[in-house]
Amino acid sequence: MANRIPEEKVEQVRSAVNIADFIGQYVQLKKAGKNLFGLCPFHEERTPSFSVNEQKQIFHCFSCGRGGNVFSFIMELENLSFPEAVVKVADFGHIELPATYTAQSQPAAPKDQQQADLLKLYADSAKMYQHILVNTELGEPALKYLHERGLDDETIQTFGIGYAPANQLLLDFFKEHQTDYQLLRQSGLFIENQNGDLRDRFVDRVLFPIKDASGRVIAFSGRILKQSPNEPKYLNSPETKLFNKRSVLFNFDLARGAIRQQKSVILFEGFMDVIAAYRSGIQNGVASMGTSLTDEQIYMLERVTDTLYVCYDSDMPGQKATDRALKLLGGNSRLTLGVIQMPDGMDPDEYLRANGRDKFVQVFEDGKQTPTAFEMQYLKHDLNLQNTPDQLTYLQAVLEQLAKLSSSVEQDLYLNQLVTEFDLDKNDLKAQLRSLVGKQAMQRNDRGAQNMTPPPETAPLAPPPATVDGGTNNNAPLSRVEKAERLLLYRLLNDHDVWLRVMAIAGFHFIHDPYQQIFVYAEAYFKTHNQFDLGNFTDFMADSDLQPVVTSLEFMDVASETSKEEIADLVNVIMNQQPLVLQINQKKAELTAAKQMGNHELVQQLTLALIELYRKQQQVLAAQEPDYF
Ligand code: UTP
Ligand code: MN
Repeated sequence: MANRIPEEKVEQVRSAVNIADFIGQYVQLKKAGKNLFGLCPFHEERTPSFSVNEQKQIFHCFSCGRGGNVFSFIMELENLSFPEAVVKVADFGHIELPATYTAQSQPAAPKDQQQADLLKLYADSAKMYQHILVNTELGEPALKYLHERGLDDETIQTFGIGYAPANQLLLDFFKEHQTDYQLLRQSGLFIENQNGDLRDRFVDRVLFPIKDASGRVIAFSGRILKQSPNEPKYLNSPETKLFNKRSVLFNFDLARGAIRQQKSVILFEGFMDVIAAYRSGIQNGVASMGTSLTDEQIYMLERVTDTLYVCYDSDMPGQKATDRALKLLGGNSRLTLGVIQMPDGMDPDEYLRANGRDKFVQVFEDGKQTPTAFEMQYLKHDLNLQNTPDQLTYLQAVLEQLAKLSSSVEQDLYLNQLVTEFDLDKNDLKAQLRSLVGKQAMQRNDRGAQNMTPPPETAPLAPPPATVDGGTNNNAPLSRVEKAERLLLYRLLNDHDVWLRVMAIAGFHFIHDPYQQIFVYAEAYFKTHNQFDLGNFTDFMADSDLQPVVTSLEFMDVASETSKEEIADLVNVIMNQQPLVLQINQKKAELTAAKQMGNHELVQQLTLALIELYRKQQQVLAAQEPDYF
């Protein structure tokens, strides 16, 4: 890149933004000891092994081995180039960068050209669809429709809503721009006939762009203007390389900040509900793509919050879906759950339009239910509580729910409700609840005995850090040599006296390539930098794959002080692994030096060492001899 962002600028950005705040946008971090821990955003996991060290301003995942500084984090997460990452972090820290850099980083060299082309195609399509909605006569009926549904122009802008008119335009638009036919095919925006001819997929529909977690359009969902029995109300893009329904949450990109602020997320059923809430100031809402929540989506949410409210339609299908969602989440996630229900069987969007903003917002403030309270109400749905058998069925079902609760205060609260509602004796209810609790515990024990699985809690929090033998995800114990290499490299970088001493040893080099490469990088680095700065050095290696290795060194538990003896030991362990020829050459060089200095004692030592090495060499050669015949 011809016009790099100068190092001082990069430095300014890095020092202005706390890595924990920045990563905190994507990962929910909790303090544990001197580091912060969370679920790694780069792979799926249940126990946190992703760690951030605020003091050193670096991150490291003990499970997948990824690591680096704030720039490496976002480069890896969003597939950005280094300048793009700097621009993004600067943006977060409200640091102005001269336009030349921000402009320069726009046409970034993407790692995957096809992906970049698709993203561009979707961005262009979204722009064009919105233009038609907002600025053209063709768009008028759709705009009127949206206005009637209460969406103002600002909301239309915020969500990037557009309109695909009845007379198809998209194909012509891209043909005019000579867009590649294969790219058009892969985009999912067109339907292909047997001859390979394309036509627009979305026709006469209001279009909601579906965005990924970074706010990039990756698909569309189109709503028909007038419902018709022959056509689906919402039509979604088919799955593509970029769009996987299972791992997308509508509005996640815009909601993330509010989710963190509110410390909770609200899960809606439909896009229109998310939008209704958003324009009323409730901005921590998301929706799945018309399906029940998937594991992938649960992971996404668990990373940013502890609490999830289900706010589905309050009609019967909506209640059923709520029940299903609670059961799914209850068994599958560590989120604290709650339910919010609109009154009168309405969906949130309908309720807002019927009752206005204040009443709508009030429901979110006052109408929160615990899952148990919801279940107690839901269990009534196909029972007639006027007759005794149904009453008994109901009580049994509720008590079974209550038996699962861990809080006796909560149990007591609901027991009181039952006492009042059914005019029962509380002691009878309590006795029955106790017997159910006992039964459930026994069932659990039975299951436990059958499976013989150890409880998951005993799994270690963090396996050993990234190492080089066997890749970065190596949980096997390290060899003695590699341990020595890692500690020595850490000392070399962090203590310049050690650096100078080791540089003076002729022929020293590391056994494992990555450590040697870092050593070489460091040599170049110290030519232009007086002292080691971790963040700065990490940037210095931005084009290499070595950042995680350096970061993992910083996460080692090492004594703060080193000594000459420690360094000498480490060097010896490493040098002893070097091929004999190298060792001999090195000892010879040392011997020459010792002779020049007139250090007789050392000369004697080195001579003995050399003899020993020659002896070893003879042995090795003798052992190899048969191979030559
Ligand atoms: P709803 O039918 O509850 O949608 O479906 P809604 O949000 O109330 O829609 P409006 O208010 O009539 O416009 C909920 C979600 O299910 C998916 C969509 O994601 C929708 O937001 N869905 C629904 C489909 O994918 N296809 C359909 O035909 C209908
Ligand atoms: Mn609706």
